[in-house]
Formats: sequence, C-alpha cells, structure tokens
Amino acid sequence: MDSLPGSPVANFEANPGSKPRSDAGAPGDENSGYENTGHGNRNEQGGSQPRLSRTLSPIQIGDLEVYPPIFQAPMAGYTNFAFRQIVREFGGAGLQATEMVNARGFVWLDEHDCEHPDRLWGIKDEPRPLAVQIWDNDPETMAKVGRRLVEEYQVSVVDINFGCPVKQVTEKAHSGSYLLRDPDRMYAIISRLVEACHPTPVTAKMRLGCTRDSMNYINVAKTVERAGAAALTVHGRTAEDFFKGSADWDRISEIKQHLNRMPIIGNGDLETAEQVVHAFEHYNVDGIMIARASLGKPWLFAQAAAALEGRPVPPDPTIDQQREIMLHHYDLVVERFGAHRGTMLMRKFACCYAQSKPGARHFRAHISRVETQDQFYAVVEKYFPRQSDLDAILETQQAARNASSPDELSREELIGAECAPRDSSDKDGGCGVC
Ligand SMILES: Cc1cc2nc3c(=O)[nH]c(=O)nc-3n(C[C@H](O)[C@H](O)[C@H](O)COP(=O)(O)O)c2cc1C
Repeated sequence: MDSLPGSPVANFEANPGSKPRSDAGAPGDENSGYENTGHGNRNEQGGSQPRLSRTLSPIQIGDLEVYPPIFQAPMAGYTNFAFRQIVREFGGAGLQATEMVNARGFVWLDEHDCEHPDRLWGIKDEPRPLAVQIWDNDPETMAKVGRRLVEEYQVSVVDINFGCPVKQVTEKAHSGSYLLRDPDRMYAIISRLVEACHPTPVTAKMRLGCTRDSMNYINVAKTVERAGAAALTVHGRTAEDFFKGSADWDRISEIKQHLNRMPIIGNGDLETAEQVVHAFEHYNVDGIMIARASLGKPWLFAQAAAALEGRPVPPDPTIDQQREIMLHHYDLVVERFGAHRGTMLMRKFACCYAQSKPGARHFRAHISRVETQDQFYAVVEKYFPRQSDLDAILETQQAARNASSPDELSREELIGAECAPRDSSDKDGGCGVC
C-alpha cells in the first residue's frame, strides 16, 4: 500500500483485525481465521461471508496483467488524483481510471499552448497501472490524444467512453453512448486508436444500448473485439435508463460467450464485498468495476479484494477514522487547487463520506454552503458524526426497541433505521450523486 506520510489510512491498517493478513491461508485452512460453516465464512463483523468457489485469476489487458480484477470506475468530477490516491492507499483496485477527458478539448488546449486539462492532474507522477479515459467521435482526434497519452504521459491503458448518457456529450457532441447506434464509427475509432497507441492497450466502456428498445450490446461487443480492443467494460443499463432501475447483470453475463478473446468487466450497483463475490460467482465476467459506492467508501476495493481472495474482510474504518480520511482527502484537494476552489470541490466529496450516517442531512445542508477552510473545518467539527454520537443513538434506540420488542436488532439495522439514504427528492443541497 502506498500511503502518504501521516496518512490516516495507516490508522485504518493498524486497527485490530482491519488489515488484510498476507499470511492468512485459504478459507478452511487452519491459519485462515475462518470458521468454515460450509455455507461461506464468518467475516470479522460476525456476518457470513460468501466465498468464491474458484481461485481468483488476474485479467489480461494486452500486455498488462491486472490483479485483483477489480476496477475503479472513471467518474467525471470525482475520480481525480486525490480520490485515486485515497483508493490507492487502501489498496484492492487492480486498475484505477481518471475522469473522462474530452479529446477535442485536449487538442485545442495543446494547439493554443495552454496547460493540459485539470483532469490530467497527477497522472504523470502517480504509480501505475493507470487508465485514462477519453471521449469524442472523431477517430483522428482520438488517435492524436491517445498517442500523446502514451508517449508523453506513459499511461498504462487508454479507455474510450461509449457509455456517457449526458446530453452535452450525446446530443451536442454525438459521442459517449450516442455512438452505440453507430457500431461502424465505433469500429473506426477503436481501430485507429489501437494503431496509434500500440503497444499500450485500448479498452472501451459502454452501456447495453441507447434505449431499452434498441439494446445491441452483443453486436457492439463483437465490434469492439474485432476492432482490437483489449477489454470491454459493460454497465448493465441503457443510456435511456440513466441510473434508474437496476443494472441488468444477466445481460452482461450473456456477452462473453459471443466473444473469442476479449475480457469482459461487469459494472453496475455493486456496493459491498459480498455483492462483488456474488457477481464473480454467478455472472460470466472476468472482472468487475465499482463506481458510486466507492465515493464515500474508498476502502471498498480492499474489502472486495479480501473477500474474493477468501481473506477476512476488513471492517469499515470507525467513524472517527472516516473523518480523518475525509480531512486527508481535503488536504490533497486544497494542496492542488488552493483553499477556495479546493473547499468548493470538496463539498460533494464530504457529502459522500457522510452518507448513511446519523446527522448526514444536517451535515450536507451545512457543508454544501462552506466557502473557506475555516468554515469547512468548523462544519466538520460540529456536524460530522462522532463515534460517541453513534453509540449514544444506538443505545437509545436499543433501549426503546428492547422495551417494545425483546428481539435484538443488529447494529446495521439500527444504523439503517436512523439514517436511511436520502432519496432523489432530497433537496437540501447535497452533491446529487450519493
Ligand atoms: C458522477 C458520475 C460520473 C461518472 N463519470 C463517468 C465517466 O467519466 N466515464 C464513464 O465511463 N462513466 C462515468 N460514470 C459511470 C460510472 O463509471 C459507472 O458506469 C456507473 O456509475 C455504474 O456503476 P455503479 O453502479 O458502480 O455506480 C459516472 C457516474 C457517476 C455517478
């Protein structure tokens, strides 16, 4: 693990039982720390932990071997260097991705001697492997940028966005998921980029189709493979779905049998280590990708990796540790963007860290208005929950429930009852993603 000096992630590691033990044997081994129940294992929080019935294999992306086959998704506005660094410190993500970068914008900046996009922050110096995602609909522009990323930035993978459903990208720029209706153009973009980036692998990320009525994912996946892509990530929704409903993993699972060599990475709605094991176990994928759930839980990749390898799943950091991790994240952002811009940018990340915690609504309402570092620290101090707050709430609730029902509720049930995640109608100034 690559933690920065003084990183609170070190405390998370030192937390008894939280560090994945490299000497832990396979589930069922004497040294594994598991009690083999025959129905999965017990994790360290006492829950039953599903286990993978096969050995976890790396995923081969061109010459690059990615292990574990767990991918940190590209997320515009979120997966910048600071977020990637926090994820890296916890470990568990075999390949991390930047936010999507507009190829045309990159070329324009280059031609006008401007600084390269902020979205490329950190990529020259940070550890590899690292994927940079680009988008546009012009093969030559994409090839030009791909070549620059390979030669000047030495990125490990160039990924193409064929999944973005946002109007600015689809209707205005005929790119992202818009291109799913035009497999010939997709072919032209991929094959040109593969040629320009050689030997660096080119991958693609897509949805199941533009609309529910026009799901052409099998045909598109075959095209992507024929064009020479080294891997394909599929988010199990259509562009029309945006984020509605659930990701359709049955359809993701169908794809692989139609391909000859290209690995498939499944994506959509994975929120826990158990769900990640379930995805590997029940769907025909070579790897999985996690996006939204990791925003407030950058340690999720490490938990998923442990579960897949049959090691005890490290528990979530305590609430007090999570506050320290959030402040560490804030430091990285302010270091790059300065106090004002860094504070504005950090508001949405702070909302993600607070999600599903007691008092999250209050915290969001206040943090979404801060403009200075002093205000940021003051709101965190006053409204970000502490372990003692949580314990007090749990005690009160437990007492009330015991009085009305003798059944013991689990800690998770109690927390869930107190802080059900907000719904989309929640208009108190949250970040809009989590
Ligand atoms: C705020 C946000 C930004 C995103 N930006 C990108 C992006 O830049 N490129 C991309 O391919 N997908 C992007 N996505 C989609 C995710 O990578 C992922 O496919 C989707 O969220 C489903 O995965 P999940 O259920 O694990 O969140 C974005 C999603 C969100 C919520």
